[in-house]
Amino acid sequence: MYGDDIASVLITQEEIAGKTKELAELIAKRYPADAPEGDLLLVGVLKGAIFFMTDLAKALPIPTQMEFMAVSSYGSSTSSSGVVRIMKDLDKDIAGRNVLIVEDIIDSGLTLSWLKRNLSTRNPASLEVVTLLRKPDALRTHVDVAHVGFDIPNEFVVGYGLDYAERYRDLPYIGTLDPKVYS
Ligand code: PRP
Ligand code: MN
Ligand code: MG
Repeated sequence: MYGDDIASVLITQEEIAGKTKELAELIAKRYPADAPEGDLLLVGVLKGAIFFMTDLAKALPIPTQMEFMAVSSYGSSTSSSGVVRIMKDLDKDIAGRNVLIVEDIIDSGLTLSWLKRNLSTRNPASLEVVTLLRKPDALRTHVDVAHVGFDIPNEFVVGYGLDYAERYRDLPYIGTLDPKVYS
């Protein structure tokens, strides 16, 4: 539907669904369904994480609640500066809760590293991260991530929530973008 903008399919819909189920089973083992901290709180990072967030919540065999944050990096649009601004904060207090940050991708790691520091000051009972994708070759800072779906090469990827200039989020798979689109 985007003509020949997509150079190749990197991860199919079926592979995403299989990995999501696998991650859900691992995550569920870490949080008892009747934890004294209450239901596991999924914190989705808008907008990229929306598809993964909803599919993961449906795959998790334990009760979860959902909150969303929107953050934006200052500086150039092609590389993250690590200075992050909150565009939409959580609606609820997370003190004493088991919190799992849900991300679509860790690129430089700067967004997540900032977000973890920010949320940890709010005294959650626990704070972990699940990300569908990670680019090991693009990491600029160490972030402790409990669950990673796929480590991928340092290429421009779109689909399943990931955008280029707000486009392509609606693709049901992860694809690489043809360089002609952004060059
Ligand atoms: C993307 C992606 C991650 C972040 C990763 O979000 O969804 O949240 O960048 O980059 P980093 O590891 O280099 O910090 P973006 O800021 O593009 O917003 P979006 O989710 O609304 O697309
Ligand atoms: Mn994002
Ligand atoms: Mg984006």
